[in-house]
Amino acid sequence: MKEPFEKEKQESIKNLARSIDLKSLSNKWLADVSVYKYSYNFSWMGRPIIQFPQDIIAMQEIVWSVKPDLIIETGIAHGGSIIFYASLLELIGKDGQVLGIDIDIREHNRVEIENHPMFKRITMMEGSSIDEGIVKKVYEFAKGKKRILVVLDSNHTHEHVLKELELYSPLVTKGSYLVVFDTVVEDMPEGFFPDRPWDKGNNPKTAVWEFLEMNDRFEIDKEIEGKLLITVAPDGYLKCVKE
Ligand SMILES: C[S@@+](CC[C@H](N)C(=O)[O-])C[C@H]1O[C@@H](n2cnc3c(N)ncnc32)[C@H](O)[C@@H]1O
Repeated sequence: MKEPFEKEKQESIKNLARSIDLKSLSNKWLADVSVYKYSYNFSWMGRPIIQFPQDIIAMQEIVWSVKPDLIIETGIAHGGSIIFYASLLELIGKDGQVLGIDIDIREHNRVEIENHPMFKRITMMEGSSIDEGIVKKVYEFAKGKKRILVVLDSNHTHEHVLKELELYSPLVTKGSYLVVFDTVVEDMPEGFFPDRPWDKGNNPKTAVWEFLEMNDRFEIDKEIEGKLLITVAPDGYLKCVKE
């Protein structure tokens, strides 16, 4: 029963991904809802999660298929995503852990995260994700872990994300993913984020493109964005294809 279903699904995803009309409709939709701060509308187990529901589902599929021992995320904010990953690892039932890094963990967020039932699987580090001392601590924490998934969702400038890609990509294990959020900035009109240092030409997607020119361990998983259509991570779902 499963095989014909999977085959049909793959076929319709391919057709969907080919639809230029739907792609441009999705981009228009993404730009229009951004004005209303759409990504701030949701929560996971009570904590605000700054993600689109479509990407949350994609991450669920990835976590279930990889079953990581460790998920590292840069950019904690209110903690919704690290709690989401921890809840999936809890359901998987092994001893998977989540490590979150943020330059500024606000006291009220820290208290809520530490009092959350999923905190038992979470460790937080405060500091810049590209700070030498933090990176050293991350590598110590990751020692001995066999399957590692990395999610980059902190400062979205080209320079910062490229540095994160260089520092964190060696931790990602073959078959797992390196997910780079907010690559969608490149697909928005110029000047769309007037109060932010990132823009068209200077964002996570341009960093991914430069990174992939010098690194052959990762490939963009086009099937994920092909089936989501609405995603903040086009070209941001990177599959690790080499040891
Ligand atoms: C988009 S929010 C993260 C959202 C979170 N991942 C979620 O899904 O709910 C970005 C976060 O990155 C943090 N940040 C900014 N610059 C950083 C840096 N250099 N290192 C680590 N975190 C940083 C900010 O403090 C902020 O909390």
